[in-house]
Amino acid sequence: GSLFESVVLQNMTEAELYSLYKGVYVPTHLHPPESLRYCEEFTFRPDDILITTYPKSGTTWMQEVVPLIVSEGDLTPVLTVPNWDRVPWLEEHRAILLNLEQRASPRVFATHFHHHMMNESYFKIKPRVLYLMRNPKDVFTSSYYYYGMASYLVKPGTQDEFMEKFLDGKIMFGSWFDHVKGWINAEERESILYIFYEEMIADLKGSVEKIAKFLGKSLSPDVTEKIAEHCVFKNMKQNIMSNFSLVPEEYMDQKKSEFLRKGIAGDWKNLFTEAQEQRFDAVYKEKMKDVTFKFMWD
Ligand code: A3P
Repeated sequence: GSLFESVVLQNMTEAELYSLYKGVYVPTHLHPPESLRYCEEFTFRPDDILITTYPKSGTTWMQEVVPLIVSEGDLTPVLTVPNWDRVPWLEEHRAILLNLEQRASPRVFATHFHHHMMNESYFKIKPRVLYLMRNPKDVFTSSYYYYGMASYLVKPGTQDEFMEKFLDGKIMFGSWFDHVKGWINAEERESILYIFYEEMIADLKGSVEKIAKFLGKSLSPDVTEKIAEHCVFKNMKQNIMSNFSLVPEEYMDQKKSEFLRKGIAGDWKNLFTEAQEQRFDAVYKEKMKDVTFKFMWD
């Protein structure tokens, strides 16, 4: 099955590409009304695992790491199933087709929803959440290239224009600031593991161990090593089930920018002008002024 259904996306306007759901822009083509309704009615299990991210924070990476922890290093799931069916986005149109109700536990899902967008069952059952965060300057940078190559998104415009949209949350899944603040302030904090893209970059083996521990899995050092080795950027990039090469070029033009683009921390330094850095820092400071949570990039 394909992530995208055949539809001509070129030259569509913002109003045609995005819809407003619970106050947040979602790309309509991937999240039509029936998918959002499905998501609202979805019933969680206590042992579900939810990979939760603001887009471009390393979702795809987690969609590789977590199934391998669950399978205890057996590569079959990541080598035979595309990431979008292996760890489906609950709000994405394919979720309806995948018969998730019949999946064996522990089920692994992804979502880009803000905390306040989660459904009633989520707040009642409190499944396990891996909340992955990334330096917003790198999220911006990754997004800037991604919006330039993905036809289901509104074109980014100039770097300055895209920065204003990013800081204002006028892009898919809204404001990075609101997303992070919502999830770090969640009441059900005991069921959430907060983890940073930067810590996975610094120590992937340690991160695999940390995630496994949170999920109640004890892995041998050999298995941990094997998982980290498979998931390191240069190796994962070769996996056609995870590098989005199965998506036709008309939806994602990887000749413009690859989905697994650079996979580093700090690439914003290669993109931002001094003025942009100052602008970004000023808005960050203002929007995060009441936040006491310790972020790895601070
Ligand atoms: P860059 O564009 O900075 O390279 P998401 O999956 O949430 O859309 O995030 C995509 C970002 O995660 C991209 O960042 C991508 O390269 C990076 N990424 C994916 N797999 C990775 C891996 N194994 N190691 C490091 N970064 C990875």
